[in-house]
Amino acid sequence: MTDTWQHEAAGVTLTLALAAFIAMLFPFPVRAAVPPGEQLFQNNDCVTCHAVDHKIVGPSFEDVAKKFAGQPNAVPTLVDAVKNGHVGTWGMVPMPPHPNLSDAQITEIVNWILTLK
Ligand code: HEC
Repeated sequence: MTDTWQHEAAGVTLTLALAAFIAMLFPFPVRAAVPPGEQLFQNNDCVTCHAVDHKIVGPSFEDVAKKFAGQPNAVPTLVDAVKNGHVGTWGMVPMPPHPNLSDAQITEIVNWILTLK
């Protein structure tokens, strides 16, 4: 009986010590995670031609989000444009295709872009 009680007390103490230790490691609130779509955008060649809020070679993603806002087929249209390349919507400079990215990855990026309007 006494034995069990001592074990339990030790367990609680250990848990509290561990919680205090973890709190010590993270004195500041953990920063909000970058959305997976934004992460993929940053890790791919997109950044050489696109920025969120200004045109580089390609349109800003805010402009893309505005143009396609409320269009029911925005996601498949944009996924297709990124996957197979596109020209003519924003000018005569073409976007190259992206066979290196999976449909799921491109969909993730496009869903993030459409939140930027
Ligand atoms: C070499 C430059 C270049 C790269 C790299 C590039 N883009 Fe583009 N992107 C463009 C250009 C130019 C256009 C405009 C095409 C047009 O007028 O139809 C465009 C258009 C777009 C559009 C709008 C398509 C439409 O139909 O209106 C989206 C969305 C987009 N890019 C996303 C991406 C993503 C995501 C990546 C990375 C995986 C990427 N782009 C990489 C140049 C680029």
